[in-house]
Amino acid sequence: MNYANSTPQSFIKLEKISKTYPGIVPVTALKEINLTITIGERLALLGKSGSGKSTLLNLLALIDKPSRGQLLIDNRNSTGFSEKDATRYRRRDIGFIFQFFNLLPTLTLRENITLPMELLGHKDDALMSSLCREAGIENQLDRYPEEVSGGEQQRAAVIRALVKKPRLILADEPTGNLDLETGLHIVGLMNEICKTFGTALVMVTHSREAADTCGRRLKIVDGCLFPDD
Ligand SMILES: Nc1ncnc2c1ncn2[C@@H]1O[C@H](COP(=O)(O)OP(=O)(O)OP(=O)(O)O)[C@@H](O)[C@H]1O
Ligand SMILES: [Mg+2]
Repeated sequence: MNYANSTPQSFIKLEKISKTYPGIVPVTALKEINLTITIGERLALLGKSGSGKSTLLNLLALIDKPSRGQLLIDNRNSTGFSEKDATRYRRRDIGFIFQFFNLLPTLTLRENITLPMELLGHKDDALMSSLCREAGIENQLDRYPEEVSGGEQQRAAVIRALVKKPRLILADEPTGNLDLETGLHIVGLMNEICKTFGTALVMVTHSREAADTCGRRLKIVDGCLFPDD
């Protein structure tokens, strides 16, 4: 098959997705979003604070459910997923880099990083060592999250997502705690993993330089999605 000429294959498709958080004053965080993410595609998501970026990532990871619309994964409607299907998808296919890291405080950085691989039953120690060295945290691995800096926690959270070799990396401001140079180096590592393993990436960022490393850039304004050119 000549992949160069074939149409990129749809991986995730959002059709008129809306999300309203209930409450005394309900908040509609996403409004009729249409988006197709193809296999291996890397896209940057920009937008002001409160515009709906984390909400969109949570829906893509099946951490939260849309209020309206359809979310298709490999052409299967996710509303038909059992809890077991959703857990398997999150565990095997998604590497989530959370805005606030979500490292487990009672585990060392090394244990935090290896846990998802162990759950999957395929540990890649060589990849882990080389990523930790590249990210400059190889000497911090036996420390607990509270014993390292915010930027070091962030780098550990990035590596935890990458070593799984997932099909999709969802990165919520993965360089928010890093200086520009370190941040771009970490984004470089993410892009390298994506290219090597055919991993798709949705990266929320406020950095123009980081966004420019992605093939496509989108912007959320008040819950609506637009191309950002
Ligand atoms: N669990 C929740 N319950 C109610 N409202 C929420 C909840 N989570 C988010 N919101 C609201 O939904 C909107 C979008 O929030 P979201 O966290 O997606 O924004 P964001 O673009 O990620 O912002 P930031 O850049 O500050 O992280 C905001 O108005 C926010 O207050
Ligand atoms: Mg957010």
